[in-house]
Formats: sequence, C-alpha cells, structure tokens
Amino acid sequence: MSIEDVKIIELPRFTDPRGNLSFVEQLNHIPFEIKRTYWIYDVPGGENRGGHAFRENEEFIVALSGAFDVIVDDGAIKKRFTLNRSYYGLYVPAGLWREMGNFSTNSLALEFGSIHYDAQDYIRDYKEYLIMKRDGKI
Ligand code: TYD
Repeated sequence: MSIEDVKIIELPRFTDPRGNLSFVEQLNHIPFEIKRTYWIYDVPGGENRGGHAFRENEEFIVALSGAFDVIVDDGAIKKRFTLNRSYYGLYVPAGLWREMGNFSTNSLALEFGSIHYDAQDYIRDYKEYLIMKRDGKI
C-alpha cells in the first residue's frame, strides 16, 4: 500500500435547521467490514499520538468534533490530512505509518477498524517499519 491509497471519503449529509445528520455504512461508504469502533477524547490541545503502523488493520477516521491532523507515511512520501468536519473521514489502508497530531481542545476522533484489537498487529518502531517496508514485509 502507498500514500496513493489513502483517501478522504465524503459521507452522506442531511442538512436540516434542526441539526445536521451524517452516517457511515460498512462496505458502502467505507471499504471494509467494521469489527471495532473506538474514540479518542479529552486530548490536551496540541497533543500528538498514534505513531505506529498496522500490519492488517484498515482504518477510517472521522473528526466528530474539533480538528486534528493525520500524518500518513508510506516510507517514501509523507502526507498530512487535516480533519475538521464530521461529514467526511480518512481511509487509511494497512501497512502505512500514521500519526495523529495538532488536536484542538475538545476534539473527538472516531475510528473504525477492520479487525479486533490485537497488540501484535502494531509496528511501533519507525526504523523497524522502514526496514519492513524496504524488504516488502509490509
Ligand atoms: P494505542 O492504539 O496504543 O494508542 P496510541 O497509539 O495513540 O498510543 O492505544 C492505547 C491503549 O489502548 C493501548 O494500551 C491498548 C488500548 N486499546 C485497546 O485495548 N483496544 C483498542 O481498540 C485500542 C485502539 C486501544
């Protein structure tokens, strides 16, 4: 997988004077079956987290509230995506290094994953990631 496979995906959006509504469906708006949903909240403004790659897990990340950046890196090219609306999200395939940063105060990141939580699926060492990428192991 390369940076070209990372995509902003627009979600349905029903604007309404009573309040807007968006939704997401597996294998429709996002290209995988959702096995897990988690959210990151109470992040101190400006904080960074999530520096790792997944061997298998695919993700779809939405800024439900506030704003943050997702920095994706395929070992050759690094790209920064700013998420700041709840009606689109970022699809990140497996095998890419990704970090999250520049969280605004009170931001809320919602993440969908394609596999159940598995600590063995993480690569947390960037140098190790680069070697695996170079050797075609990820
Ligand atoms: P982690 O993904 O390591 O966050 P970050 O890369 O931003 O530091 O998750 C932090 C902790 O939460 C980790 O100890 C494992 C736990 N965790 C689960 O138990 N289930 C999950 O689905 C996730 C995402 C994390």
